[in-house]
Amino acid sequence: MARLSDRIQPVEAEVFAEVDRFIGETVVVEDAALRAAVEAAEAAGLPSIQVSPPQGKLLALLVRLLGAKRILEFGTLGGYSAILMARALPADGQLITLEARPEYAEVARQSIERAGVGEKVEIRVGPALEALPVLEEEGAGPFDLVFIDADKASTPDYFFWALERTRPGGLIIADNVVRKGTLADASDPDEATQAQRRLHEELATDSRVSATTIQTVGAKGHDGFLIALLEGA
Ligand code: SAH
Ligand code: DHB
Ligand code: MG
Repeated sequence: MARLSDRIQPVEAEVFAEVDRFIGETVVVEDAALRAAVEAAEAAGLPSIQVSPPQGKLLALLVRLLGAKRILEFGTLGGYSAILMARALPADGQLITLEARPEYAEVARQSIERAGVGEKVEIRVGPALEALPVLEEEGAGPFDLVFIDADKASTPDYFFWALERTRPGGLIIADNVVRKGTLADASDPDEATQAQRRLHEELATDSRVSATTIQTVGAKGHDGFLIALLEGA
């Protein structure tokens, strides 16, 4: 039997991408600044792994639904998800986004500025694990929303750090937890996959959050988000 991750056929993947295109022509139309952010990232040779437009819109809707004012993002890339979330913040809202690679952060800085949300976004350059003690010292948070989208093997570490620093009723969202279905494969050798499995297993018995994982298909293939609500609100 082929590995779980090899069982989605290319023709189905085409359908998923086609549907994303239709969604992108109707309810989720990108404006010029978002398109410019994608183009700038491509021109600078960044990998095209930002959230898809429908996924990004979901993040923006959740920011509005929460009435969020403080957001923490792990993994800036070219600033695409940061722009979408920052736009959904009120004028006095703040998004801190952590990016390991200075050259990516510079592309993001320019795109974020161009999108008109430079005042609301602070990019911190360096490995997220090194940024966290600094945030702690500054007394950053509590956050209304934490979006985890950096190095996938560290997702559980970021999640449990965020758990202590997200307000009751707030959300922690982790991208790329389903990984072509390998989430369901205990024998998958990939460290990133095992990290998502461990996170799910630990959350099963953690009464501090109520969580779900939503599988996604689309232009980025088969993946999914973990969405966890902090209890105690
Ligand atoms: N959230 C972005 C996509 C992020 S892609 C969007 O949807 O638009 C993942 C990013 O995490 C990459 O830019 C990568 O350089 C960054 N990254 C990888 N390891 C990291 C680490 N240890 N600390 C901070 N950022 C990291
Ligand atoms: C990768 C990272 C992402 O955040 C993503 O959404 C898709 C792929 C990657 O590192 O390959
Ligand atoms: Mg991602």
